[in-house]
Order: sequence, then structure tokens, then C-alpha cells
Amino acid sequence: MYNAAEIQQVAVIGAGDMGHGIAEVALLAGYRVHLYDIKQEYLDRGVKRIHDSLAKLAEKGKIDADTHERSRQLLHPTTDLSEAVSAAQFVIEAVPEVLKIKQEVFQKLDQLAPETAILGTNTSNMSISDIASVTRRPERVVGVHFFNPVVLMKLVEVIRGEKTTEETMQTACEVCRKLGKEPIRVEKDVPSFIVNRINAPIRVFLGAVVDAGEATPEEIDAMVRDAGEPMGPFELLDYVGLDITYDSMDYRRQVLDPEYGPFEALEKLVKAGHLGKKTGQGFYDWSNGRPAIDLSKKTDVISFRDIQFVKLNEATKLIEQGVSNAKDIDRAMVLGTGDRVGPIEACKDVPPEEIAERLDELASRYRKAILQPTALLRTGGYR
Ligand code: 3HC
Repeated sequence: MYNAAEIQQVAVIGAGDMGHGIAEVALLAGYRVHLYDIKQEYLDRGVKRIHDSLAKLAEKGKIDADTHERSRQLLHPTTDLSEAVSAAQFVIEAVPEVLKIKQEVFQKLDQLAPETAILGTNTSNMSISDIASVTRRPERVVGVHFFNPVVLMKLVEVIRGEKTTEETMQTACEVCRKLGKEPIRVEKDVPSFIVNRINAPIRVFLGAVVDAGEATPEEIDAMVRDAGEPMGPFELLDYVGLDITYDSMDYRRQVLDPEYGPFEALEKLVKAGHLGKKTGQGFYDWSNGRPAIDLSKKTDVISFRDIQFVKLNEATKLIEQGVSNAKDIDRAMVLGTGDRVGPIEACKDVPPEEIAERLDELASRYRKAILQPTALLRTGGYR
């Protein structure tokens, strides 16, 4: 297997929202990058987005002219998978979040990429072990989960599958550092890992508030933005893509608990083909760019504290299961979502009994057992 210093050629499989961003940061780090997609039109769109983003960085003086030119030269787009991976030392897959598609891709990658290459998957939620199981090299398969927009968000969750070796984990972390990212290790292969898992009950909770007609997405976003966060939760869903959110919630419904499933307002929009920013309409109208949220409309039905309590509670589930620790969880939330502080730090001065009492109230008001406080939360042992 390669160590990070020997890696010079990277292949990115899928040129969509995540793939084009991953390819861009690899180019900026000086890697030769083969970018693959199944259709020329998808590839062209991804390449244009890379060129536009590089131009934006150059225009703002964030990269110099040489880096700009070198990054463009290092990019090799192709619709031939064999050409993309046959000399790659590190492959990152970013194809749609459907296990069957990912497994088909991994089967081919295993046949076409050098035996020694590391195969990374940018899955947002799915089991690394399930994806690795179709290859003859599960020890060199690893989760490398980036955040949107890749060029700006600093976090990569590096996830260990059941058979991933320590050497693979270390090489993946080192490559992520070279990409200018901060890797956070996820030692157990659990659904949605850290950040998406902690945000999972937030989607359920806020979706229930909207479905009950107690507050609109804009009123909730206004409250969150007013608290100083960079994006409101519904604006973020539109930004990431409602289809992606729907599929993630559906996956968690199947593998974690039915209560994690999609909420009605989301389901209606997805069925109508309103997928957020990329289609121009979602919870908001994006036809004139980022929605202007009127902060004076903020709801008082629920508070920003409630959101922090729900996140903290989910974080305690991850600590209880040995998936991560308080420090890494807080760091991951800040780097992956722009939250000003992580959930554990945010709640450190609030007595656990007060948090547990409010969570019990929310769980019964919205009939969601997944919001009930964990044993660790009740004892305050997370602090
Ligand atoms: N390329 C280059 N530069 C870009 C860019 C791009 N693609 N996109 C934005 N920029 C630049 C802008 O030009 C701007 O530059 P300036 O500061 O020099 O003017 C700067 O980045 C900031 O952009 P904006 O002014 O448009 O907006 P914000 O200040 O709000 O920052 C943000 C944008 C960083 C996206 C911020 O809103 C944020 O942190 N939002 C939360 C994002 C988040 O939570 N992401 C995680 C989603 S979940 C996920 O990815 C999981 C996965 O599994 C789906």
C-alpha cells in the first residue's frame, strides 16, 4: 500500500456537487486528478464548476496565478473508468447515495484500480463495510466524507469500516490534511457517522414543528440565523438538495429507527420535483440567488436552546456507543457545518436535569421517542 507521500495521482468518481469540489481541492493540493462521470454532459458541468470556482478564488486573491493555471493543467476529465483509475493511488467515489450503485462502482474500481490503491467512499450515511464487502481489498476501503461546499468546509470524517486497517486510516487522514482539510476519525461504522447523525434528529424535530403548522421554515430559519448561525436549517436543506436529504432520512428510517424518516413537508416538495437550490425552488425560491430571510419573523414556539439540546442528546448516543468523543464531536460540528460551537461545549453550563426535562417534553409533544434523553445525558457524564 502507498503511504501519503507516495500518492501523486487521485481519481474522483462522480462530477456532481461533492465530486467536483473534491476534485478541485485535490487539484489545489497539486495532485494530478482524473475526474470521471458516466455522461459527457455531467462531466462538462463538473469541469465548468471547477473552473468557475478556481476563477473566483483567483479573483479574490485566495490563490495566485501559478496555482490557478497549474490546477487547471492537472485536471483530466474522462468518461472512461479504466482510464480514470488505472494509475490512481487514491480513488474517491462520490456517486449517488444508493447502495446498489455504490457497490457496482466499487466492484469495477476493485477490478480496474491498482491492487495497492486505496478506495475511499464519500458516502454521507451508508455502511463502509457494506460498500467494501464487494471488493477483494476491504482493508484498503475507507470512508472519506466531505462537506458541502467542499472548497470552503474544513472537515473530512475519515471512517473505519469493519476491515479497514490502521495504515489505511492514517494514509487517508494524511491525504485529507494535504487537501487542506482537518480529518476527524470515526472509529465505528455507524449510520450517518458524526455530523449527519447529530443533525438527523434536528431534521425530524423541526420537520415535526413544520408539519404540525406551529412554525414555517422561514420562521425557524430566522430564529437560527438570529442566534448567529451561518445558515438556517431549511435553507441548508435547499442548499444541499432536498432529494439528498430525503434519501438520507429514508436510509436512517430503514437502518436506525422509523422515526428518523422524512417529514411530510419535505416529501411533498420532493414529489413535486422541487429539490432546492439546484431546481430553483425548495422551501425557498432560489431564482434570484440565496433567499433573504427576514429575521424579524423568528418563531418563539421553539428556541435555539432546544436545537442545541437535541444535538447534544444525539451526541451522547455516539459517545455511549464508542463512536467518538466529546472533543472530536464538537470540532466536527464546527468544521463541518459552521456552527459557532459544538453541542457539548454549547450546553456545558446548563444542568443536565434541565436539559433532560425539556427533551422529555419535546419527545412527548411531537411523539418522537428518539428525542428522549439518553442515560448518559441524564447523568451529565458527557461533560
Ligand atoms: N468557490 C470559491 N469560493 C466560494 C464558493 C465556491 N464554490 N462558494 C462561496 N465562495 C466564497 C464566496 O465568494 C465568499 O467569498 P468572500 O468572503 O471573499 O466574499 C465566501 O466564499 C463566503 O461565501 P458567501 O458570502 O456566499 O456566504 P457565507 O458567508 O454564508 O458562507 C458558507 C457560505 C460557508 C456555505 C456558510 O453559509 C456555511 O458555513 N453554511 C453552512 C454549510 C453547511 O452546513 N454545510 C454542511 C452541509 S451537510 C453536508 O455537506 C453533508 C453531506 O453529507 C451532504
